[in-house]
Amino acid sequence: MAQLIIGDKTYELPILEGKCGPNVLDIRKLYEQTGLFTYDPGFTSTASCDSKITFIDGELSVLMYRGYPIQELAENCSFLEVAYLLLNGELPNLDQKKEFDTHIVHHSLVHEQLIHFYQGFRRDAHPMAIMVGVVGALSAFYHDSVDIYDHKQRELASYRLIAKMPNIAAMAYTYSIGRPMVYPRNDLSYVENFLSMMFSLPSEPYKANKVLVDALEKIMILHADHEQNASTSTVRLAGSSGANPFACISSGITALWGPAHGGANEEVLKMLHMIGSKDRIPEFIARAKDKNDSFRLMGFGHRVYKNYDPRAAIMRQICYEVLTELGIEDDPLLQLAIELEQIALDDPYFVERKLYPNVDFYSGIVLRAMGIPVTMFTVLFAVARTVGWVAHWREMISDPKQRIGRPRQLYLGNTSKHFTSLYDR
Ligand code: ACO
Repeated sequence: MAQLIIGDKTYELPILEGKCGPNVLDIRKLYEQTGLFTYDPGFTSTASCDSKITFIDGELSVLMYRGYPIQELAENCSFLEVAYLLLNGELPNLDQKKEFDTHIVHHSLVHEQLIHFYQGFRRDAHPMAIMVGVVGALSAFYHDSVDIYDHKQRELASYRLIAKMPNIAAMAYTYSIGRPMVYPRNDLSYVENFLSMMFSLPSEPYKANKVLVDALEKIMILHADHEQNASTSTVRLAGSSGANPFACISSGITALWGPAHGGANEEVLKMLHMIGSKDRIPEFIARAKDKNDSFRLMGFGHRVYKNYDPRAAIMRQICYEVLTELGIEDDPLLQLAIELEQIALDDPYFVERKLYPNVDFYSGIVLRAMGIPVTMFTVLFAVARTVGWVAHWREMISDPKQRIGRPRQLYLGNTSKHFTSLYDR
């Protein structure tokens, strides 16, 4: 129990203990008892829910999905096994895996009418803009999976979202370059299917390179969940009002798109191109430190990690593997990134603020080497994160404590104003 003293009154606040990580001060009755709100813009000290899905220790570089270290999952699992784990709490056995894979495979087609949606977009639209629209539109097509209080419908919506997302994403790309849309194939794995839908032509099917498929599988596992980040919290907040799952996931895509969040992988690559050569690194480091300059070192820093992002360490390794496989280990962008990372890690500004590379720092270099277009980087992130969003949405809906999310505010606006007519103002 913690004690809060305000004036001559003392209030008792329960302290809740998690399985690991900081304990939590339970302030649910604070307003009722004291008439006070707490103030925490950016939620730096606020736990918005309890969860059993993902745990991060930002000081010790720990990331676990359902208790399993991310390193073990990335090394040993397929993306769909990890999806099953995040959704259901445990890794699947052989039968469960077979059943889950079958559900996903059999929901990968989209309604033909949905395909016509794409023609309404400009060809030069950012694929994330298309994703927001098309995923939101799924609720107009799948009426039998929008009742959030029906367990079976929630399950069906989960399969549909996870299964259709690569198809929807690939169509956003093929549409933008004027290629025919490619249907999913049931004989391919989730990741191979995505690559096939992105790069196959009717005249020439795409033959995936095993090393690249394995790398993409790992990349997707690394991006599958990250506890209550901005996009997941957005999904939870939207879902807390009872909104349908497709609309909620679309709102997550919107939040993910921002350069401070999932959009950073695209921005890292733009930044490396802008820097151009190693001799210009000091100039950009100086700009990143200058408070009068809006430039930030993209792919650096994290709200939770105050140490190396464990995903970035794995991503760095994947980067070497992919570039070696492709025979481009001396890729100038990779060399520039390595040098930039070292200079930043030795700089007191970054050291004092505990700013380390995050997952996005190396992902752009790998994805680009694999032939994924830059505008598709964040889309790929959204495909992988859909699993995490769905897992959190389901956890929230099944939580009996769940209420509509409704933060309060500290009002600093005008008071006591009175109306004057238009002509007297
Ligand atoms: N470059 C330069 N300075 C930075 C950077 C950066 N990338 N990141 C943080 N800082 C500085 C801030 O200016 C601030 O300095 P101050 O204390 O002197 O004012 C201090 O470090 C703390 O930064 P905040 O912005 O308060 O940290 P916050 O937790 O709010 O932001 C964020 C985290 C958004 C990730 C930030 O580090 C950032 O903008 N990074 C670049 C974008 C990026 O890579 N985003 C991807 C995150 S991972 C993901 O979402 C998948």
